[in-house]
Amino acid sequence: MQLSSRHLLGIRDLTPKDIQIILDTAVQFKEVLQRPIKKVPTLRDVTIVNLFYENSTRTRISFELAEKRLSADTINFAASASSVAKGETLLDTVNNILSMKVDMVVMRHSASGAPHFLSKHIPAAIVNAGDGINEHPTQALLDAFSIREKLGSLSGRKVAIIGDIMHSRVALSNIYLLKKVGAEVMVVGPPTLIPKYIKKAFDIQVAYNLKEALMWCDVANVLRIQLERQNQVLFSSLREYSLAYGINRKLLDSVNKEIVIMHPGPINRGVELDSDVADSKQSIILQQVENGVAVRMAVLYLLAGGQTEQN
Ligand code: NCD
Repeated sequence: MQLSSRHLLGIRDLTPKDIQIILDTAVQFKEVLQRPIKKVPTLRDVTIVNLFYENSTRTRISFELAEKRLSADTINFAASASSVAKGETLLDTVNNILSMKVDMVVMRHSASGAPHFLSKHIPAAIVNAGDGINEHPTQALLDAFSIREKLGSLSGRKVAIIGDIMHSRVALSNIYLLKKVGAEVMVVGPPTLIPKYIKKAFDIQVAYNLKEALMWCDVANVLRIQLERQNQVLFSSLREYSLAYGINRKLLDSVNKEIVIMHPGPINRGVELDSDVADSKQSIILQQVENGVAVRMAVLYLLAGGQTEQN
């Protein structure tokens, strides 16, 4: 099995077939992760550098674990502890690392397009682990994997993406993916946090009322307000946001149907999601994290050529 692209820069570039291959391969790796020995020799000859120019907990650990479970050699790079602080450019940093014979680069950067730029200048395969407000493809893939696992299919499912759509790379990657696999998408939030072009550009629904969205959807994917990316006041206060768009038990009970609750993390408890919802049986937030390792194993395996025996 081979993907149509050498890199994973965004879901935008994937075909529906690519998505299906990745999700199906991830099912096999999830099985590996249930074994007493969770490691396969698949990427034994492959060296991967994790290049993180921006903070991360889940994504970085998840990639590192995926690489280790595949027996790859890994190097971790955090920009804050590197020569970036001494003025080195992104391209120089990466070329120096590559001259030490690195095969793949997993990269998170606060600038949208940084991995796309690198892909034009270096020979290594690149996996985008989040670029600015653009895309976060492995998050959308693990979200899709988790929905499919929970509900049995993606096609025809109604997914509401709730919160700061404007500044969320998770939202954009999810929209691309869900549309490619035939799911229905609604974005929900304050008008100032939803781009005006989005409805037409993606053929999705837009709602400004949370209860209306919850009554419509099978799955609610709840996002954090990305305050670090907002350089102007777009809503009055987190307290007011929470009153209008926070999901709590009382609201969910009033909707009276079994909605699956998702969140990419980090959760701001009490803002977009109350603890009794985040920690409830309806929530698959920790399954998403668990599935992230299998999905990233699948992506790395397929980008490395996908030929090596899995055993
Ligand atoms: C997200 C991210 O960094 O884009 N988190 C993640 O990778 N799981 C979402 C966020 O920061 O809110």
